Amino acid sequence: MPILGQGASFLRALPRRYVHKQRRALSAVSSALPKHIEILGQQYLTDLTTNITPAIISKIPLRLHTQPSHPLSTLRNLIESHYPDFAHLSSLSPLVTPFKNFDELSFPQDHPGRSVTDSYYINKDMMLRTHTSAHEVETFRRGETKWLLTADVYRRDEIDGSHYPVFHQVEGARIFNADASGMKEVEEDNERLSLHLARSNIIIEDVPHISPTNPVQPSHNPQFSEAVAKNLKLSLNSLMLEIFGAAAGANSEEPLRVRWIEAYFPFTSPSFEVEVMFQGKWLEILGCGVVRQATLDTAGVSNKIGWAFGLGLERIAMILYSIPDIRLFWSTDPRFLSQFEQGKITTFKPYSKYPSCFKDVSFWLPRNAALHENDFCDLVRDTAGDLVEDVKRIDEFTHPKTGKTSLCYRINYRSMDRSLSNEEINHVQNDVVTRLRDQFDVEIR
Ligand code: PHE
Repeated sequence: MPILGQGASFLRALPRRYVHKQRRALSAVSSALPKHIEILGQQYLTDLTTNITPAIISKIPLRLHTQPSHPLSTLRNLIESHYPDFAHLSSLSPLVTPFKNFDELSFPQDHPGRSVTDSYYINKDMMLRTHTSAHEVETFRRGETKWLLTADVYRRDEIDGSHYPVFHQVEGARIFNADASGMKEVEEDNERLSLHLARSNIIIEDVPHISPTNPVQPSHNPQFSEAVAKNLKLSLNSLMLEIFGAAAGANSEEPLRVRWIEAYFPFTSPSFEVEVMFQGKWLEILGCGVVRQATLDTAGVSNKIGWAFGLGLERIAMILYSIPDIRLFWSTDPRFLSQFEQGKITTFKPYSKYPSCFKDVSFWLPRNAALHENDFCDLVRDTAGDLVEDVKRIDEFTHPKTGKTSLCYRINYRSMDRSLSNEEINHVQNDVVTRLRDQFDVEIR
């Protein structure tokens, strides 16, 4: 699934998902699956929902956002230092129930994010969180009123230089008393932030805080909701200034350009996305909004109103450090890791770009069946690991007489750390083809 900070939001992914739903999806032959799998020292029963792969399981203990001097850890710290009086959380397990990831946040039953093609399931009752919002209810329940939470999140997706099935998000939230004292607090904070921004080199394209298409919640006082949405925007504009101002350098004459867009999330209303102009392009940075009252009700928090945001770290770090490929964050090569120092944003110096090598695979699907691209990509990722740079479908056609569909994928291989021999790649490609034939019952052409 495309993600915020990596691609697009849950909402924008909808049309692609529904196209896939119209055909019977091929499911992998599950007999290859062990009865139990071990994750973080615990055994879990598998079932027909299980789709987590060894490649993904191996990433779970790494927690890059907590590794000193790693770019993701420095960026996390930069964001935390912008919110010094917030609680800073970063050690929650990525294993959550679908209830926590979706239901508690008012996701409808038929939301495409729930499907096995988009999310990693350990079994039908346990999954890898797809976003840090999965911890909103429990954090509010703990009584936190201002908090940041950083964590690894997992989504099944395509393979290219800016998508990786594991990435990192920071969730931030702040709630106020829903009374005169809270209103005073919001207004004072809005005044402070407005003054700060007025003195800064930033151009903001805004949308109304509330509109018919981005409505105030029925249980909210419209003035209060408006003030909270304004606080959210001011707070995030000032965060963007902190993050990207640092990258541009103090002597930059160019103003920072930030634009606000109306959005939709099941657990906020009104909702927004933020984009930042970087090297002539608008980049989607985060999603946010006024927290749905149902979330606070479920958490047992009454008489409060507030905002939440969720931001992807990789995309921002790639910009700040000029890191050209998302796989590099996972590199253990000293030529990568030794370049960075905790707390310092420096430009990545590529040590070498090794040659790439592509291989195509063409196959017939069984009649009336479709293969979800995410299933194909996970198979490639699980076989080739981080040697795969991107995967593209280069051909699809249906035979007019037999009605059978043929697909052709191009897999581009390149190591981040060394040259690959043709022999090694042929070997990997053979494994991909064998697994494809065995698991999905396709006919290789
Ligand atoms: N969790 C959302 C996502 O990953 C982002 C978000 C967080 C939106 C908090 C609103 C509020 O797409």
